Amino acid sequence: MKKLYVKTYGCQMNAYDSAKMADLLAPLGYAAADKPDGADMVILNTCHIREKAAEKVYSELGRLKTLKAQKARDGGRMLLAVAGCVAQAEGEEIVARAPAVDMVVGPQSYHRLPEMIARTARQSGHALETDFPALEKFDSLMPPASSGVSAFLTVQEGCDKFCTFCVVPYTRGSEQSRPPQDILCEAQQLADKGAREIVLLGQNVNAYHAEGWGLAKLCDAIAKIDAIARIRYTTSHPRDMTDELIAAHGSNPKLMPYLHLPVQSGSDAVLEAMNRQHRADDYRRLIERIRQARPDMALTSDFIVGFPGESDADFEATLQLVRDIGYATAFSFKYSKRPGTPASTMRKQVSEDVKTARLDVLQKLLLKQQYEFDDSQIGKTVPVLFEKRARDAGQIMGRTPYLQPVHVQADASRIGRIADVKIARRTANSLHGALREDVLA
Ligand code: 5AD
Ligand code: SF4
Repeated sequence: MKKLYVKTYGCQMNAYDSAKMADLLAPLGYAAADKPDGADMVILNTCHIREKAAEKVYSELGRLKTLKAQKARDGGRMLLAVAGCVAQAEGEEIVARAPAVDMVVGPQSYHRLPEMIARTARQSGHALETDFPALEKFDSLMPPASSGVSAFLTVQEGCDKFCTFCVVPYTRGSEQSRPPQDILCEAQQLADKGAREIVLLGQNVNAYHAEGWGLAKLCDAIAKIDAIARIRYTTSHPRDMTDELIAAHGSNPKLMPYLHLPVQSGSDAVLEAMNRQHRADDYRRLIERIRQARPDMALTSDFIVGFPGESDADFEATLQLVRDIGYATAFSFKYSKRPGTPASTMRKQVSEDVKTARLDVLQKLLLKQQYEFDDSQIGKTVPVLFEKRARDAGQIMGRTPYLQPVHVQADASRIGRIADVKIARRTANSLHGALREDVLA
């Protein structure tokens, strides 16, 4: 057996791709290892969304160079591959900066890895694949070798929205949706391997459309698989939140009442400069309609502070939007200049100090809302889907419909099942409770 170490950066789509790459290499004799030391192949599945994420890759490559040299001294060979969005965006530059790299493979071409490995073995030099054969990779992928209780399933890739800050349209290409039958087949395979929850993934997942199907119809069809108890989807764009999908939240009980709907900013001027193509009030009205369809819907979002030209008043508008909506949790980032994007050359870039100060204020507000939301569960009895053993002996970990982690004293045979849990308290990052039947006993 050869050892394969895959390190994943960035979003859930990369996590899905990493699992697929491991499945693809298993028939070649590669088995997953949990550290790079002595590995026969190392894949860095990279993220290009912010400068920090991209730079992490180069520092990791520095460390790997030493391990690769060590492996060569021991008479072996460590193949080093850079996959994902940095591979797509930087291509040959990666090899110029880090000559130890043997393979550079973009997110749409990793099904060619087996052939690239063979090529690298035959000849010296490196292999590079950064084409965009849209969706071709899905035809070459293996059925999932295993599945966790909660499983990712990519249904859509790419983005046509061209927000002025974002590299995704350049690294992942234009919006493409997989055929519904392929997705249903994969959902069934995941269910057969033990999945009870499916998380449908796409850069613009709610833009999903193929063969006359939209995301609502897809969720309804997946809901027919008995073993699948919960369905989620991420990430959505406010512009693609159709009436049909909103209605599905009222009619499909397997769709969880928890929606990641990034707004980025609460200022109309900034939204316009970002090319989001909606105003802050459009978003407020949209949330109202979603909450009419599903009154217990909880929301999460992404925010960017310090976008070029963002004034104190613009930032205050973002805080006001957060107060108006009330989020269960949210991600927030300082604006990061990305090469080739329109915002990177806009005048009136915001200073680092101002970005840091604004991020701090926003994150404090979001954390306060998160704690309030989590605390609102205390005393309630909620359905928890158990995923794995917890670190504390005798405890298992599961999630509420709102993705909150819950720790409970219970037998591991409960993993993969849903049980009612009475929530007793909250610690920094999780809830704690007892099985309802134990409470009643
Ligand atoms: N700078 C900071 N944050 C960014 N995001 C995307 N591009 C940038 C950037 N250039 C954030 C957005 C997006 C999330 C995935 O990452 O908030 O929703
Ligand atoms: Fe990036 Fe905007 Fe597309 Fe999201 S919708 S991937 S932020 S360009």
